[in-house]
Amino acid sequence: MIEPEPSGERLQKVLARIGVGSRRTNEILIAEGRVKVNGEVAILGARVDIDHDEIEVDGAILTTMPDVVCYLLNKPTGVISTADDPQGRPTVVEIVPSEPRVFPVGRLDADTEGLLLLTNDGGLTHRLTHPSFGVEKEYLVEVSGKPSRAALRQLREGVELDDGPTSPASVAAVGETGIRITIHEGRNRQVRRMCDAVGHPVVRLVRTRIGPLIDPKLQPGSWRQLDQDELLALQRAVSRT
Ligand code: URA
Repeated sequence: MIEPEPSGERLQKVLARIGVGSRRTNEILIAEGRVKVNGEVAILGARVDIDHDEIEVDGAILTTMPDVVCYLLNKPTGVISTADDPQGRPTVVEIVPSEPRVFPVGRLDADTEGLLLLTNDGGLTHRLTHPSFGVEKEYLVEVSGKPSRAALRQLREGVELDDGPTSPASVAAVGETGIRITIHEGRNRQVRRMCDAVGHPVVRLVRTRIGPLIDPKLQPGSWRQLDQDELLALQRAVSRT
């Protein structure tokens, strides 16, 4: 009797093609039980249909849908991060391609510069912005005056804002008037209000990292698509396992 051709593509090959790792690395990932297909731990040699099967690596579901896009933008000052503005100011969505329609992941103030994601993946947006996932955001802040060690400690330990105390943050002085501050909350104007609260108003605020994503070479006003490694790193950062 002639056996029918098995359908689908070998899992390790699919993982390699979408940039998870080399074939050998993927074989190890599978052998270690770190890959699931449709919720079940996958076995080496399993065949999958990339368009229909849900593939998970280390708890992060891989985005393989070709219509999902995710752009990393270096937002310049003066551009607002809502989808449209009643006052007619330029918006971030006007900088990136208009099709497919994407939305900013969270917000940066008009005066804030730096990294901002735009995507049409609502699930990813939710996980990146929901405080329970605690994705880190790092900012380089130039403040007025030279913050004392006590002021830096206060920022680090948490300051009292009108919507409650801030969670512990990672804070380091950069030169005389610079502060690198990493938070995992995303309250309105949070960094500005924290710096106000310790007596050092913000002069310039730049977001330099979103979870695993950095790009010091991306110029203000420029954007690019995330590559597969970055998408995977992002999905890992928002997975709960
Ligand atoms: N914190 C702020 O104060 N503003 C931003 O745009 C982002 C974080």
